[in-house]
Amino acid sequence: MVERRAEHAVKFFYSHLFWHNPGVRELFPLSSDDMERQRDRLFAALTHVVSRLDDEALGPYLHDLGRDHRKFLVRPEHYAVVGSSLLAALAETSGDAWTPQAEKAWTEAYQLIADAMLAGADASEDPPWWDAEVVRHLRYGQDIGVLTLRPHAPFPYLPGQYTSVSSERVPRTWRTYSIGNAPRPDGTVDLHVSRIDRGRLSTALVRETRPGDVLKLGAAGGRLTFRRADRPVSLIAAGTGWAPIRAMLEELADRPPHQDVRLFVVARDGAHLYDRPLIDRYGSSCGWLDVTYITPAPGRHRNEATGRLATALSNRGLWPDQDVYLSGPPRFVDQTARVLAELGARPARVFHDGVPAAATGSGPRGRPLGFGEWFLDRPAPHWHDPSARAPKEN
Ligand code: HEM
Repeated sequence: MVERRAEHAVKFFYSHLFWHNPGVRELFPLSSDDMERQRDRLFAALTHVVSRLDDEALGPYLHDLGRDHRKFLVRPEHYAVVGSSLLAALAETSGDAWTPQAEKAWTEAYQLIADAMLAGADASEDPPWWDAEVVRHLRYGQDIGVLTLRPHAPFPYLPGQYTSVSSERVPRTWRTYSIGNAPRPDGTVDLHVSRIDRGRLSTALVRETRPGDVLKLGAAGGRLTFRRADRPVSLIAAGTGWAPIRAMLEELADRPPHQDVRLFVVARDGAHLYDRPLIDRYGSSCGWLDVTYITPAPGRHRNEATGRLATALSNRGLWPDQDVYLSGPPRFVDQTARVLAELGARPARVFHDGVPAAATGSGPRGRPLGFGEWFLDRPAPHWHDPSARAPKEN
């Protein structure tokens, strides 16, 4: 019943929350665009999580969600006020269905969720976020930037994971970006950022951020990490989806594998293969690595790259034996996973992860980051960047 009147329920929920607790508004992003999106996110997550209380994976997810909420400056007392506003919104939208039993069930369900999140926040030994100084900023054309950051405290992560990022230039807004390198002795991390039209944080990161700026990083997350099984490996990357694949390749190069590794790098044209010199170096120095670049024929539409990738994949074969790691924009990942399934790849061995929630606007749903995200239409990042050129130091 509530879903059918979701928009009304969401507006009611936030109006109720901010009217009764004006201070809570300050936790949320300033811009109304971001706030609109947040309306979908928080409320969708709340209702969706409640409907999955029996799911085994829910406990660990809520634990991490609670830990991560500390970076939004959420305090324990906020959980009660959010709960009251949620119940008020549900009561308002459910009509006659809001019986004493329904109210009791929702109250208990919300309490379970809040307790699990609070326990996660409480148990975490991590800081709420890591301050990290920008030490280098490479620009590739107008819309791709690679930022090297030095976290002020050790920042744990595995190659292939992503982190959430916030900048004082766009206060209270957090977006996720993949980390483009395996852990280094000096602790620095590279973020590959593709600028999204109307994306205020990605624009600030690519065009305005300078060495010396300090960004905030949230705890690393994501499941696109290397399984060192005794099986051959295929890595498939498109756009800045190359970042986690690059981190995994660095890890492989550090401990060369016994099995062959096939790497497919997809871009809208040659100019968009922004890391090609490095990939070429890997290709020539690592005997176990076979590199295939996929771009559309000159002058052809970028979508041709996906067709060409399908052809290249079908020419290679042996898919049932492969562990496949797939990274790129949501549509690309969906399509490629479908092609791989048709070619015999086993779905359980095709690994992909939530696309960094760096984009704005609307589009097809991406890879799930968590339960809340299953609900949402994730926007499609512009993995095709019309103006990327050689890197320039900022
Ligand atoms: C108790 C159940 C709750 C659930 C299931 C929940 C779920 C979520 C989810 C899934 C996100 C998006 C995460 C991300 O983008 O990284 C989010 C963001 C957020 N939540 Fe919660 N949340 C809960 C409680 C709260 C409470 C009590 C507050 C405090 C007022 C709060 C404040 C926020 C803020 C400020 C954001 C970020 C807004 C943004 O990035 O636009 N949440 N929440």
